[in-house]
Amino acid sequence: MIKSSFDIPYTNFSGEVQPIKKELMNTFEAVLESGQYILGSEVEALENEFATYCGVRGAVSVGSGTGALYLVLRGLGLTEGQEVITAPNSFIASAASIALTGACPVFVDVRPDGNIDPERIEAAITPRTKAILPVHITGRPARMPEILDIAKRHHLFVVEDAAQAVGAKLDGRPVGCWGDAACFSLHPLKNLHVFGDGGMITTDNAELLGQMVKARNHGLVNRDQCDAWSVNCKLDAIQAALLRIQMRYLEERTEVRRQLAFRYNDILRSHVDVPDEGPGECCVFQTYVARVEKRDDLQRYLREHGVEALVHYATPIHLQPAAKSLGHSENDFPNTMHYVNRILSLPLYPGLTHAQQDRVVELIVAFYQTHA
Ligand SMILES: Cc1ncc(COP(=O)(O)O)c(C=O)c1O
Repeated sequence: MIKSSFDIPYTNFSGEVQPIKKELMNTFEAVLESGQYILGSEVEALENEFATYCGVRGAVSVGSGTGALYLVLRGLGLTEGQEVITAPNSFIASAASIALTGACPVFVDVRPDGNIDPERIEAAITPRTKAILPVHITGRPARMPEILDIAKRHHLFVVEDAAQAVGAKLDGRPVGCWGDAACFSLHPLKNLHVFGDGGMITTDNAELLGQMVKARNHGLVNRDQCDAWSVNCKLDAIQAALLRIQMRYLEERTEVRRQLAFRYNDILRSHVDVPDEGPGECCVFQTYVARVEKRDDLQRYLREHGVEALVHYATPIHLQPAAKSLGHSENDFPNTMHYVNRILSLPLYPGLTHAQQDRVVELIVAFYQTHA
């Protein structure tokens, strides 16, 4: 394991792996000896378990969250001249996957909680709009009932970017079961992850499901017949088998994350804006994002004192060089800019101790005492 130079690092993979290492190693060995490295029973079992977890008809595992988004959008027929509405406050893949189909990402500003603001969506709809792609940012569910209502009235697809939010719920319903399809990332920084890259698609749509099974595997119907050009974007059997183990600990780990997040909220509340849950929300805190004043100075101060805090994401997508042709400026999405300039992700993971949390808070308090 890579040793962090921080007293309190942002992640702690070694701490996460240790308690289940034996189980993981036994599974690794079993797949190694089985000779079934591509697709097969582990992949199928994982997909069934994931679909059941999200309460949908089916799931298709893929090579990454970006692959999931791209294949779904392409599968829904997105193409040049069409538009997809999404939030500028996300990882670049949310918009990149739209652009890669040839369609144009159309950004809509966010609410104070960082998720797309449904009240601003209708103003962005044009005759070219084909879909809405809400992102459940930081593990907080987007306002799906309002988004689905708009989509229904305007005959639009809804694709959930649930990359950061496996296990999150709104009004008791898990993310991944609201839209026409949902896309998950299984990257190591996600709260459910493989040991490399991976992704998952969930949907209730049987036709899309069948299409995705082919699309992730060169468009092959069987060994000899290719229905449509596609890419190779499969999840390795070895990763599927290991993820099945990880899934057994998901609920327990999520609960630990939630309790740690609530504890941060309690002890930080009088110093910074904390990420309280909204009505009906069950957040999984893939990242614990506080909104703070003097963010860059505070981040530096924490680092100098042994605490690794990060910013997700410092540059919103509409201001990325890759988005230059869309012609956006800093002033286009004021809520996004306000959010982006104040966010700071604090260490949060199973294994983080109360003493470590107290140390983080102590440093934040000390910083504001000297930088009032
Ligand atoms: C919101 C969001 N969408 C999409 C992705 C892309 O997932 P992946 O890195 O697995 O391709 C990520 C990953 O960071 C993400 O956070």
